[in-house]
Amino acid sequence: FLASGLLILFAYLLGSIPTGYLLGKYLKGIDIREHGSGSTGATNVLRNLGKPAGITVLVIDLLKGVGAIALAKSIYTTDINPFPETWKFWLITLAGIASLIGHSKSVFLNFSGGKSVATSLGVLLMMCPWVGLGTLGSFLAVLGISRIVSFSSITGAIAVPFLMILLQQPLPYILFAAFAGIYVIVRHRSNIERLIAGTEPRIGQKLQEG
Ligand code: G3P
Repeated sequence: FLASGLLILFAYLLGSIPTGYLLGKYLKGIDIREHGSGSTGATNVLRNLGKPAGITVLVIDLLKGVGAIALAKSIYTTDINPFPETWKFWLITLAGIASLIGHSKSVFLNFSGGKSVATSLGVLLMMCPWVGLGTLGSFLAVLGISRIVSFSSITGAIAVPFLMILLQQPLPYILFAAFAGIYVIVRHRSNIERLIAGTEPRIGQKLQEG
C-alpha cells in the first residue's frame, strides 16, 4: 500500500509541474493565470506567449502524462515489483488520474492549473496507443474544421470512452476514459459558455477579456 501511495503521489507531483506558469514568469514576467482564459495550458500559452512557448508547454505537459504511466508500467517489469499482477491496470489507471488532477490542481499553484488535455493525451498514448492516436486524430480533425481548440478538446474527451470500449480495453482503462472525459469537459465549463454565446476564439484569435 505504501508503494502504491508513493507511485500515485509521484504521478500527482509530476502532473503538478506548472510548465505554462513557469514559462509565463520567465519569458514575460506575467502570471499566465491572469491572462486570456486563465488556464496554464498550451492553448492559453500559445495565445499569450507565442508559438514556440505554446508548443513547449504542449510537449512537456504531454510528457508528464507519459512519464506517470511509463513509471507505473515499468515497475511491473522489475524484480523489485511489490504489486500483485491483478493490481496492474488499476494502478496504471490511478497514476493516470493522479497526473491529470495534478496538472489542473497543481500543488505548486494553489490548486489551479490547466484543463488536462495534453496530459490526458500523454496518459492515453502510454496506456493504450491506439486509443491515444484515435483521440489525437479526432482532435485534429475537429480542429481542422472548427479552428477552435476547446471544441476539439471536448469532442476528443467524448470520443475516449467509446474508443476504449470499441478496442475492448480492460475495465480500469474504460473507467479512466470515462473519468478523464468527464473531468476534461467539466474543466471546460467557461469555454462551453463562450461556445454557446459564440464568443469562443478560434486559433490565432485573441480572447476578449473581462
Ligand atoms: O487544452 C485546453 C483547450 O481545450 C482550451 O484552452 O485556454 O482556450 O481555455 P483555453
